[in-house]
Amino acid sequence: MSIHISAKKGEIAKVVLQPGDPLRAKYIAENFLEGAKLVSQTRGIFYYTGLYKGKEITVGASGMGFPSIGIYSFELFTEYEVDTIIRIGTCGAYTTDLKVFDLLNVEYAASESTYAKYAWGIDDEILSHQGNIFHTINETAQEMSLTTKATNIHSSDIFYRKDPAIPAIATKNNCPAVEMEAFGLFANAQHLGKNAATILTVSDIIPTHENISADQREKALKPMIELALEAGIR
Ligand code: HPA
Repeated sequence: MSIHISAKKGEIAKVVLQPGDPLRAKYIAENFLEGAKLVSQTRGIFYYTGLYKGKEITVGASGMGFPSIGIYSFELFTEYEVDTIIRIGTCGAYTTDLKVFDLLNVEYAASESTYAKYAWGIDDEILSHQGNIFHTINETAQEMSLTTKATNIHSSDIFYRKDPAIPAIATKNNCPAVEMEAFGLFANAQHLGKNAATILTVSDIIPTHENISADQREKALKPMIELALEAGIR
């Protein structure tokens, strides 16, 4: 057990898929894993461990934002000897160059957040994916004939804001999309020498308000889920 995860030692696989939403973790466990066992449900943040094509994998939620993914990814890496975390989430596009359903493999996450600085003394405003898993995801996508874009993204603390303009940090770092967790995950993995990647599905186009409807979401996220599972068992 760790402070926020009640699984026993050994009940979490070396590779963890991390959606933001606990119910998405449940959906993946029930629809894609064999013999999935619920190993933690502290605070309603579900973790399941099961088999994908005969290999053990865990899927569990990060919650939203840096404080939440910071806690769960740190405890997975340090208390459960997890080697690799693949975040799977959705993002908003700042421009119409991206389309809903586009799949992004995050190369760098830029943020105004002080999380990396105050947690680990990492002063950079832009952090890379960590280890080889980013490349494994690209190779796996090719083999699956899935198109992914290697992209920088803005990891923001803010969902609602007064000014609709694209934040300066996103423009400066060439970030066409925004989400709220990758920077925190990459900071923890960089500090701990672990592997971390983030795959995102574009769920909304901010300037046009186009979005994936609630009933399209399950189907829309399937390619991302399958890509993460396939890359995770390599
Ligand atoms: N902002 C931040 N995170 C998001 C968004 C957004 O517009 N859409 C999906 N995740």
